Parts: sequence; C-alpha cells; structure tokens
Amino acid sequence: MDRQNLETVLMENRKFVPSDEFKKRAHISSLDEYFTRYRKSIDDPEKFWGSIAEELHWFKKWDRVLNEEDAPFFKWFENGKTNISYNCLDRHLETGVRNKAAIIWEGEPGEQRVLTYWDLAREVNKFANALRNLGIKHGDRIAIYLPMIPELAIAMLACARIGAIHTVIFAGFSAESIRDRVLDCDARMVITADGGWRRGNVLQLKNIVDEAIQECDCVKDVVVVKRAHGDPFPCHIKEGRDHWYHRIIDEVSAVCPPAEVDSEDLLFLLYTSGTTGKPKGIIHTTGGYMVFTYLTAKYVFDLRPEDVYWCTADIGWVTGHSYIVYGPLANGATCLMYEGTPNWPDKGRFWNIIEKYGVTVFYTAPTAIRTFMKWGERWPEKYDLSSLRLLGTVGEPINPEAWIWYNKIIGGENCPIVDTWWQTETGGIMITPLPGCMDTKPGSATYPFFGIDVTVLNESGEETEAGFLAIKKPWPGMLRGIYSDAKRYKETYWSKWPDVYFPGDGAKKDSDGYYWILGRVDDVVNVSGHRIGTAELESIFVEHETIAESAVIGIKHEVKGQALVAFVSLKEGVKASPELEGELKHWVVKKIGKFAIPERIIFAADLPKTRSGKIMRRLLRDVSEGRALGNITTLADAAVIDDLKAKYEEG
Ligand code: WTA
Repeated sequence: MDRQNLETVLMENRKFVPSDEFKKRAHISSLDEYFTRYRKSIDDPEKFWGSIAEELHWFKKWDRVLNEEDAPFFKWFENGKTNISYNCLDRHLETGVRNKAAIIWEGEPGEQRVLTYWDLAREVNKFANALRNLGIKHGDRIAIYLPMIPELAIAMLACARIGAIHTVIFAGFSAESIRDRVLDCDARMVITADGGWRRGNVLQLKNIVDEAIQECDCVKDVVVVKRAHGDPFPCHIKEGRDHWYHRIIDEVSAVCPPAEVDSEDLLFLLYTSGTTGKPKGIIHTTGGYMVFTYLTAKYVFDLRPEDVYWCTADIGWVTGHSYIVYGPLANGATCLMYEGTPNWPDKGRFWNIIEKYGVTVFYTAPTAIRTFMKWGERWPEKYDLSSLRLLGTVGEPINPEAWIWYNKIIGGENCPIVDTWWQTETGGIMITPLPGCMDTKPGSATYPFFGIDVTVLNESGEETEAGFLAIKKPWPGMLRGIYSDAKRYKETYWSKWPDVYFPGDGAKKDSDGYYWILGRVDDVVNVSGHRIGTAELESIFVEHETIAESAVIGIKHEVKGQALVAFVSLKEGVKASPELEGELKHWVVKKIGKFAIPERIIFAADLPKTRSGKIMRRLLRDVSEGRALGNITTLADAAVIDDLKAKYEEG
C-alpha cells in the first residue's frame, strides 16, 4: 500500500454538499432513501434486481434472478431471454424518445452527425443484416478496431442484435496486440476503418489490421468503414476478404429481428492486463450486464430526458462500453461522442464542445483533469460552461487538488462530482456518490452502489480500516470468467479469501463510512488510466535480442498518476546507448502501443536480487522515488544497488 496516498487521504476532511436545486430534481435525493434502498438491495438482492430488470424488455422472463450453485460461476436472470440492442433501441421507438438524438458526434476535423434513436436503430438493423449476409452467426467472435465514430457503437449493437460476441480493441493497440487478441478468441471477422483522425493526422487502421491478421487463419472477412475519405492514404482491399461497410449496408433491409439470446449468452470480451504476461479476455454476458449498466447510468449520472451526456473515454475501454454505449442508450439518453484529442486544433477543444452542444453531464479521467490544469485556466475560461450540472471521474484515484480544480474551474462550484470506482471486470460502477443525496469529499468515491456489498480486509480476511478492497456478494454486472481460462478466473479473483471477490485495489474506510481507493496492490500499473501489467512489459523486453533481464515498476507521476520505469540489464557485449533506448521504445510500440512506453529505461549492470535470485522490486521503487532504501539484508550483492542509484540519478 502506498503510505503517501494514505496520508494525503487522511488529511482530506472537506465536504461538499449538493445544491438544493440539484437535490430537488434528483432521482435519489435523500441519504435516508439511499440507505433504505441499499439495505434492501443487500438483504434481498433477488427482489431488488428482479424489480429493476422488470423495467427492461425480456422476450421470456427469467426463472431465477441469481443462481449461486456453481460459485464463482454465477448466473443472473437464469433462462431469461432478451436482447440488449432491443433494449437500447427498439424499446424507445414507440415512445417520445424515438426522434431524440441518441448520438451527437463530432469528428476531429469538425464534422457533425446526429443520429436519432430511429436513425441509429435503422443503421444497426442494416449492419446486423449485412453481418448475417456474410455468414456471421450467434456466438461468433468479432474483433472491432475502429476510431471513435458512430459506426463503432453501431457495430457493437449490430453484433449484439444477432447474438455475435464483440471484442473491441482500442485503436491505439499495435498489430501484434490485435493478432494476440484475435487468435485468443478465434475471431471470425475484423471490423475496422481505412483511418481515423488523431491530432490532425490519419491513423491508418486498415494497414495495421492487414499486418495483424497475416497469421490469423480464423479471420474470414474484414469490414472497412470509409472514414479517411481516400486522402493520400492507400487502403488496400483484398478481393473476397475485405468489404467496404457502405457497400454491404446498401440495399439490405433495415429490419433485422433481434436474436432472442439467453441472459447468460456472451455479449462481449474485453482484454485487459493482469499480473501475468498475457492479457486476459474478460467475459461479460447479456442480462446482468444490461440491468447493471442501465441502473448505474441512470442513478450515478442522474440522467434526465433533456441531458446531453458526454463521457470522454474511448469506446475501446470498458468505460466507453458501459457508459457511452450500453448504459446511456438503455436509458434513452443523448450521448455526445468526439473522435479526437482535447488539444486539437487547440487546448480549448473540449470546452468548445461543451459550449457548442450545451453538455450537461461530463465524465472524464483524473489524468485528463491534471493535464487541463497544466494547460491553464485560460482555456476553459474562454467558453461558457454554464450548461454543466454534473461532473464525474473514473479510472484512477483523483488527488484532492485536481478534484478542487475540477469543481471550481469546470463546475463553477455548482456541480456535484461523482468519483466512480469500478473495473473492466465489474462491468459497471461499484462505489460512487449518488449526486443528489451524498456530500462528497475530494478523493473519496464515498459509498457503494445498490447491491454492492463492499468491505476492507487484511491479508487474512479480517475487516480492517485500511487494507484491501473486497466485495462480498455477486452483482449482476460482474465478469463471468476469463475467456477459455476458468482456472485463472478463480485464482485471480476468488482465491485470496473464500467466496469474496478480490479486485486488486487498496482501500480505506473512514469514520463516516466513506471509501477511499488507494490504487493497485498488485503488479498492475495505472498509467493515465490505462492498466499495464509489469510482467507483460518485462516479458516483452526480454524478447528483445539485446536484453538479459528486466524489471518494470510503477512510480508516481504528476499528470499520468503513475508512470513506468524499466530497469534492464544487457547481454554480454551489448553496449547501452541512446539509440538502443530509442529502439527499445519502438519495440514497446510494436508489441503493445504508444501508451505503454516507459517514462525511463535504465540500463543496469545487474538487477538487485535476493540470495535466492528474486528481483527486489521494492528497492527499485525506493531508488526511483528517491527514498532511503528499505531493508537490504536479503540483498545478494549490495554494490548492484549503488550502481543503479548512480545511473538513475545521472539520467
Ligand atoms: C482504478 C476502469 C480510484 C482501480 C473503469 C481499478 C480507480 C482500475 C477508480 C480498473 C477510482 C478505477 N478511484 N481508482 N474512481 N476507477 N480505478 O479495468 O485501480 O481500466 O482497479 O476500469 O482502475 O481499471 P479498468
């Protein structure tokens, strides 16, 4: 556990109260109401979740809300038949929501598109029919590698409509990462675009996919959305395998009856880094995930019919799945979607978008907030942000200083802030303020959401004030496993204590019962809200021909939250040089993507080890954070650490 984090958190006592005006209109406006409903949801989860699920459409009602017989392989809404695309689209077409904007999109170069629920339903139906025409069936896996354009949401919903399983790969991943994911889930198709705009340049996605699938025999078809419009970027179409999106949706019917899928049928896989070398395919199924994202989106963002809700995450991560696509659309909300970066053409782009579309709810990451702070107040101050009524954060702990800035400069001290703790694995928000009824403290995610039974445990499973975050009961949005690795699922999440879910985060509960999340306690580093496994990076380094050994650690970083530092020792006869450092960075880009490049690569003669040969990462952390070294009695060769210290300070 990070002592420094703990100390900052202990000093933070300020409380912020939602305004009477906000409270008056909120879905949940009193703490008593929260506590009463929370108690009921914990005492009788089946009754609670069953009644929420009734608000959505089921072709056939479930037999049982929760089946725990085969724990930790839980089943929610057992034998229920539904379809999430039906609930996100068709359900609204007979109501006033039909003509409301579902997606308001802005491209980085400045184009705008508005799709009403009716428009979106038509597009999804057409693409679903086109997928069927290409032979896609219920249960097939489809990889999606698209920029932030409406077709990304359309593709996901079209897969869901016919019972195909999507796995979205963030468009910053390299060809090799795509290949590994495609092979792991045996994907039958890849959906991509010729390119996507990023900071004024076109990222040539189709070329990356071509390289990725050279060795993937499982991929029979590639669908290509035309986004870069034939700019000087050649996009090769391989006859028979590749299909332009606009061609295959032309002349297909705009009616595609939704597949009546089982509640526990897989909806999607999403790969995330863990503590071992190989990313894991997190499994989410249909019914429980749908009910959970529907309810969390409604209450946490306090959605109202007139809201323009903007989540700035990329749909390639879980935040975009749950809170750009499924949760808000299940609620009939209007979502804003933006393709590009916040500093294009200048650092005011986000604030310009908020003013232009009258955004009311804004959900972003602490790392983005710290970047905005660095850019200065003059950017947001140029724009009218008074349409905002609620702010949110996700992805990493928010430091109180950034929280206060967000509240003052973006929220005008008039918007509650929901600091939402959750994970790819949890499917949706787990610990969060409900904005109309809870006082907030900067840096605390406050209380658990309905149905979430949280506690803080020590190593031996006893309740404690500061220790490991733990979840004692299953919840509908939970992961159902790791794709084709049931053993790893049990070991990673359910083996620390019996029948308790271990998320891998440290936490503290204060005297008001507020939770403070203190960051990862395992070998996962959270860089700008992106999870990177140190073991994954280490194994990538040793694959390089020059490297003998490597150890990667996370250190504190002012803007990114955490940054990576790699210590590497070279093979006999290889010399350290700036060129080699550049080559190694390039190697990481090739193997994972730009976002995983370490802040520093330190060439060491040797790495500090115990006498039994285990690398002492703790000492590397001490060196990197400039602290006095902890206990070194088990260190095999004390000279190693002096050499490292000198090298670290040099650079
Ligand atoms: C961290 C993102 C503190 C945490 C939705 C978790 C947070 C990991 C918060 C999951 C928060 C997420 N406060 N830490 N509000 N939200 N985290 O899977 O360490 O990309 O385990 O899901 O991010 O990251 P993931």
